[in-house]
Amino acid sequence: MQKVRIHSKQMIAEKTEGKEGSNLNGAPKLYIETYGCQMNVNDSEIVAALLQNKGYGITKEPADADLIFINTCSIRDNAEQRVRGRLDVFKQYKKKRPELVVGVIGCMAERLKEQLLVEEQTVDMVVGPDAYRDLPQLIHMASAGQKAVNVHLSREETYADIQPVRMDPGKVSAFVSIMRGCNNMCAYCVVPYTRGGERSRDPQTILKEISILEKENYREITLLGQNVNSYQWNIGGQNIDFPDLMASIARQFPGIRIRFSTSHPKDLSDKLLETIAAYPNLCRHIHLPVQSGSSRVLKEMKRGYSREEYMKRIESIRRILPEASLSTDIIAGFSGETEEDHRETLSLMEWAGYDFAFMFKYSERPGTYAARKLKDDVPEEIKTRRLNEIIQLQNKLSAASKKRDRDHIFEVLVEGTSKRSDKELFGRTSQNKVVVFPKGNNQPGDLIHVKIVRSTAATLIGERV
Ligand code: 5AD
Ligand code: SF4
Repeated sequence: MQKVRIHSKQMIAEKTEGKEGSNLNGAPKLYIETYGCQMNVNDSEIVAALLQNKGYGITKEPADADLIFINTCSIRDNAEQRVRGRLDVFKQYKKKRPELVVGVIGCMAERLKEQLLVEEQTVDMVVGPDAYRDLPQLIHMASAGQKAVNVHLSREETYADIQPVRMDPGKVSAFVSIMRGCNNMCAYCVVPYTRGGERSRDPQTILKEISILEKENYREITLLGQNVNSYQWNIGGQNIDFPDLMASIARQFPGIRIRFSTSHPKDLSDKLLETIAAYPNLCRHIHLPVQSGSSRVLKEMKRGYSREEYMKRIESIRRILPEASLSTDIIAGFSGETEEDHRETLSLMEWAGYDFAFMFKYSERPGTYAARKLKDDVPEEIKTRRLNEIIQLQNKLSAASKKRDRDHIFEVLVEGTSKRSDKELFGRTSQNKVVVFPKGNNQPGDLIHVKIVRSTAATLIGERV
């Protein structure tokens, strides 16, 4: 998963006229706040669609809402603590308006189940990621004063028929889920427990969703799944895998850029890399979470590859897609990690020359293999020091990556006005690097050519050619 890591707070802004209503203006209103990964952002869009179809209006203002949902993340303990902090805030709203319904949905709901109702008095509803179709009925129960819980995990649910309500109309980029759940069982990870087993979505419904997005002027889509490389669909005896799906999307939508997230290194095939190479609208960026550079730690993590096998995958990327950028996820201080293991992570980073990275301190999650069988034995101050060394090295690598782009010309998808100046626009290269350049006559959604003239720590600065 590529992450909108750490509290990506998202508010849904559409409004519809309702059929039923407790709110004076007609429809009851939902406010939804999202934490965690891109998949969760997309799930909030699905929840918004499911409730809009039942006549709910959607508001940006929690103070305006009849119904407040927090779509939660359990990946690290601090993600959960942040949600608990928000529940304290919503408790104050509820004091003033006891009829307000507060729901915790998503991964933390799935992990804690009924326990959450005991620990957090503010919470009226607890709903797991596969139970969103049951929301109308659960809201009905909660509105009648009963606590409502559904944390059933499904083997089939993909919300394939739901057209998500997009958060920010006018954006050029949207998420499309192609699969849900995960079968990998990495020792540290809570996701298989919170999101259940892997299932793929019917490709016809994926193509239909993208064609609607195309008509709405979206110019870039990111295909989402916990492990997109294991996408599988069988139609009439013919098997469609992830490269096949990518190729058919690329052919059908030549004017749309396609990204994907996340790849598991053990399943990233040459077939996928060759497919990307064959279509210019498949983006030249591979996010390949390594987690550790030490084969010993990777084995403890149950990642299914060694340092050398991972390096071979990168060599394939460099051979088949030499212009691709490369990003990763790294965990510092996993159970039993020694100083030497840590140095192997640093040396692998240096060898790979990552363009960017998401870096975390190991956080033990209850119920995982690591929590049951391994000791969380790296002291906090050592985890912090190792993480800082990793971040420092990545800062150096990111700066070098941007320097390499100087004097090169890239195709850039214009996204909007730069935060620094309204005379400048920003957009992204196929490699997923942000470029700022003078406005001229361009609009969001335009594809233009930009030459990189210099770079800052976070951004490439360019001029149109
Ligand atoms: N502690 C720290 N980081 C974790 N991740 C997953 N589980 C944990 C954990 N228990 C990181 C991994 C993963 C990313 C989404 O979050 O790097 O790729
Ligand atoms: Fe996404 Fe759930 Fe994992 Fe958080 S725990 S990153 S919300 S899948």
